[in-house]
Amino acid sequence: MHNYNYYLNLINEAITAIKYPEQPAQLYAPIAYTMALGGKRIRPVLTLMTCEAMGGDTSKAINAALGIEMFHNFTLLHDDVMDRALVRRGKPTVHTRWNDNVAILSGDAMLTIATQIVSRVDDDILRPMLDLFNTTAMEIYEGQQWDMDFEQRNDVTVEEYINMIRLKTSVLLGCACKAGAIVAHASDKNAATIYDMAVNLGLAFQLQDDYLDVWGDPATFGKETGGDIANNKKTFLLINAMNLATGNDATELEQWLNIDPSFKMQKIQAVTALYERLGLKDLARKAIEDYSERALALLRQVEMSHEARQAFENLITSLVNREK
Ligand code: IPE
Ligand code: IPE
Ligand code: MG
Ligand code: MG
Ligand code: MG
Repeated sequence: MHNYNYYLNLINEAITAIKYPEQPAQLYAPIAYTMALGGKRIRPVLTLMTCEAMGGDTSKAINAALGIEMFHNFTLLHDDVMDRALVRRGKPTVHTRWNDNVAILSGDAMLTIATQIVSRVDDDILRPMLDLFNTTAMEIYEGQQWDMDFEQRNDVTVEEYINMIRLKTSVLLGCACKAGAIVAHASDKNAATIYDMAVNLGLAFQLQDDYLDVWGDPATFGKETGGDIANNKKTFLLINAMNLATGNDATELEQWLNIDPSFKMQKIQAVTALYERLGLKDLARKAIEDYSERALALLRQVEMSHEARQAFENLITSLVNREK
């Protein structure tokens, strides 16, 4: 087994090797801009790691890995329009640097390029790979729509939230692992178990993202903090705050949820303070811990070498304790 940086380098080399046409510049420049900004690249790393852990040839997994990373980046372009986010990976988002139309159309092109790249896998695995990829994509759109619907609702349950983040985030981590398993011709059981492992990791991962959206350091996190609070996103934190707040806290929270957007900064500050008063930092840490434990338990059921399992364990631990 290799370490994270080894796989990361393989992926970065492959990403650098992709050449885009020069014109229309407004279509292709934002794609090159986004792909060059990096990010953690955890999804393609998971694909290559899974392939290697299951005895496959990683050079045959690179297209699936690359296509999944391109797809992930496409979702970010559209997500930033939907969330009105100004900064990503420490740089202006595409819709801020160009405009909404550019982000929509460059995103569309990235989805197609992603599908083209995934389709370059060997013919004998093409159908299961495309089925996995397309099914996952549809689930993500469902998750993103629930995420938007929930902004307008005040009765979202923790269960509904978990299902929403499973769809918008976790299934892509599951897809990344399963793609590696498919390339490695792993058994159905191994492929299904590592998929479930990654879904639980993904739940911990999105909970951590929501946590960092409140308590992260923007310079490290690479995104503006407080966006979820500003948008009334029904995160684990807000749902629990609505359930736990009583008396003045409940009245105050209700007022902030209905406040004019011009009070964004005051709202972020006050709601963050309320989360802290209600002990939600600890509650969120506990939930993150629970889902990462589930991921680790499932990992133990996957057949792989001790060394490979260790590499996955290290990755799970670092992702759920990440600062960016
Ligand atoms: C951001 O994904 C969107 C979420 C699902 C939280 P990442 O945190 O993997 O973003 P990058 O690719 O590393 O920038
Ligand atoms: C993103 O969720 C999920 C997808 C992009 C599909 P978020 O909206 O929380 O992601 P960030 O925080 O903008 O990266
Ligand atoms: Mg967002
Ligand atoms: Mg979003
Ligand atoms: Mg987020």
